Amino acid sequence: MDAHDIRSSFLQFQRDRGHAQITRASLTPKHDPSTLFTGSGMQALLPYLLGQEHPDGHRLVDSQPCLRAQDIENVGDNRHTTFFEMLGNWSLGDYFKEQQIRWFFEFLVDVVGLDPARISVTCFIGDAEHGIPRDDEAASIWQRVFAEKGIEAGIASIGSQADGDARGVREGERIFFYDSTENWWSRGGDLFTTPLGDPCGPDSEVFYDFGPDHHDPAFGLAHPASDSGKFMEIGNQVFMQYRRELDGSFTPLEQRNVDFGGGLERIAAASLGTPDVYRISLLAPIVETLERLSGTSYADDPHSLRIIADHLRGAVFLASDGVRPSNKEQGYVMRRLLRRAIRTAYGIGLRDSFFGAVVDQIAGLYEDAFPELADRRDEILEVLLREEASFRRTLQAGLKALRGFEGRTLTGADVFLLSDTHGFPRELSVEEAERLGIAVDADWELEYDSALQAQRERSRGSSRLQVAEPS
Ligand code: ALA
Repeated sequence: MDAHDIRSSFLQFQRDRGHAQITRASLTPKHDPSTLFTGSGMQALLPYLLGQEHPDGHRLVDSQPCLRAQDIENVGDNRHTTFFEMLGNWSLGDYFKEQQIRWFFEFLVDVVGLDPARISVTCFIGDAEHGIPRDDEAASIWQRVFAEKGIEAGIASIGSQADGDARGVREGERIFFYDSTENWWSRGGDLFTTPLGDPCGPDSEVFYDFGPDHHDPAFGLAHPASDSGKFMEIGNQVFMQYRRELDGSFTPLEQRNVDFGGGLERIAAASLGTPDVYRISLLAPIVETLERLSGTSYADDPHSLRIIADHLRGAVFLASDGVRPSNKEQGYVMRRLLRRAIRTAYGIGLRDSFFGAVVDQIAGLYEDAFPELADRRDEILEVLLREEASFRRTLQAGLKALRGFEGRTLTGADVFLLSDTHGFPRELSVEEAERLGIAVDADWELEYDSALQAQRERSRGSSRLQVAEPS
């Protein structure tokens, strides 16, 4: 199944099970000042998870575009994206663990067609200090659903991620207990960082095993919660049944909820049998267009092509949701995405405007699920082209200033000055200097960092998001 089929099948599967399909929320939450972007499907449903009646009932489903700006620097590997779609279903005080686990497993195995032998799961190990029990209930439901597919699923108590790195997985183990840094979910993260008043609970995560060839031993031994590449998380079922109180304790909510989120891109990658999410039907065509326009093949420079594809897709959705590039908050992140895409494109020889072709393609890829992209195509393109033109002027000015260094050695302080006064990105200064035959001081990075640090100290007190032009 490709990503399009997985999305539509999931929505249909859950509609068939009594879920009302709700309209997706904006990428910029309207009533939640605690966060810049919608990073999870549940965010828009917070009041309903806390007990307010939802007009569409107790079972809901959607596919929610999400953006996690904290992942910008991680984009470039085979699994990180800033923008992604989260398939979500919710039970607001209706069904609970048994139904959720059964349905998601059925969806993955019987609908998408994943091999159940490649699926491993995790459950919460419990927290005595806060009186939260180990989730043996979820583990035994998992054992039963695996047994129904003829798989005997062994249970292992791991604890922390570091414990798992040292211990690894033993023969026959498929269900793993981890502590609250892995198997507790709230908007704020783990048990201790759950925001006051927020709904939260233990979760059970589902992982696809790509096999030992994808394991990077630098991470230690392979186990589901490791980032070593062998296992990839494809879904998370949160049993949202507590609220965090002022004194740090957790009290049971009146209704026990399920908050399920599954990464569409990752499920599609598992279905293709590749850990590279950029190969799926929502991203590969963008990568192919970029290959054609730049003359750079994906095999030669996957890193650059992934950055451009991811960042432009995110920027197109942001523009569609009304965000405009600026120097603060959401606009700052959008500017960063666009400028990093342009800069990276510059690095692979894509020096002329290329947004038109890519925006049309992205709108086409989402025609069925998010037709608003096609409806707002002209507006989106205009926003992107305006930012592109302004950044290109910055690049031209920076290049001109850089030529002034011909015959000298470019130092870290010079690189800092170019970025500070002309907004000229540091990597580009160095790359262009090399292209122009200008020598670059071996310690430029150290000197650059200390100049940046000194400037940060000078401007301490100004807003976090306004300290510098993004590059
Ligand atoms: N809200 C849960 C998550 O984002 C499902 O992982």
